[in-house]
Amino acid sequence: MVAVTELGYVGLTVSDPDAWKKYASECIGLEVYDENEPDRFYLRMDNWHHRFVMHTGASDDLAYMGWRVAGEPELHEMEALLRENGVEYSVGTIEENEERRVLGHLKLNDPAGTPIEIFYGPRVDLHLPFHPGRRMHGRFVTNNAGLGHCLIASTDLAASYEFYRMLGLSGSIEYHLGTPNGVIKPIFMHCNDRQHSIAFGVPSDGKMLNHMMLEYTHLDDLGASHDVVRKREIPVALQLGKHANDKALTFYSQTPSGWLMELGWGGCKSEPQQSYHHLDVFGHGPEATGVGLDVEL
Ligand SMILES: [Fe+2]
Repeated sequence: MVAVTELGYVGLTVSDPDAWKKYASECIGLEVYDENEPDRFYLRMDNWHHRFVMHTGASDDLAYMGWRVAGEPELHEMEALLRENGVEYSVGTIEENEERRVLGHLKLNDPAGTPIEIFYGPRVDLHLPFHPGRRMHGRFVTNNAGLGHCLIASTDLAASYEFYRMLGLSGSIEYHLGTPNGVIKPIFMHCNDRQHSIAFGVPSDGKMLNHMMLEYTHLDDLGASHDVVRKREIPVALQLGKHANDKALTFYSQTPSGWLMELGWGGCKSEPQQSYHHLDVFGHGPEATGVGLDVEL
């Protein structure tokens, strides 16, 4: 059965590109890569041409998620699967493939209306080794684990779960969490070693994207990011803490687009069996409220 292999890239629409360039490089360590296109720039976190396409626009939200399959035969198998399941899609043109720096891709929407792309053959620029935007002790965790994870909006949890199951991800409810409006039961799904590449089931403020998570190979880089975020007095929604599900030490702070960035280190690998949690191992104390994650962890 064909399955996606990683969350390979994301497109984001940002209203303040200059603030994002500064934030991405100085607070996170990402490489800003500008090819002088008037409406976009890129962010790199490894040797891929890009992992983020930053489109200038008003919405300050996710524009699309790019899910990778192994190659062209798998893309055709994915097309057949979508047809079988009555999911509408279009096939990227040669120009659109070039725009995304991939060999081929499909465009569709998930059940909540979030744009999804399924692609194969990303451009990897080994002649342009990743150059972090600030000094780093290590690198970002990517390789077969994709770029990180996204927590996205869902209007129908069962429909979202079935959709991402169809794409080849697996997972389950992993928390029962207290919120000011009662208990929520978010779902976490994986398709490779990363414990989860996507999650949903947290109430949305109207945006498709609640937060993204990026992971460092070295604890000291997480500490350095934490120092910069604190020094700049960027709102922190959840303080440093260790998640019970992916075991990562993380904190959540606000991006220039309003949604949250979870920076972390030490995540565990995905497991075939399911379990759920009520609270985290430690930390993740709430701080700034009303910025997307008012949960008791
Ligand atoms: Fe997360």
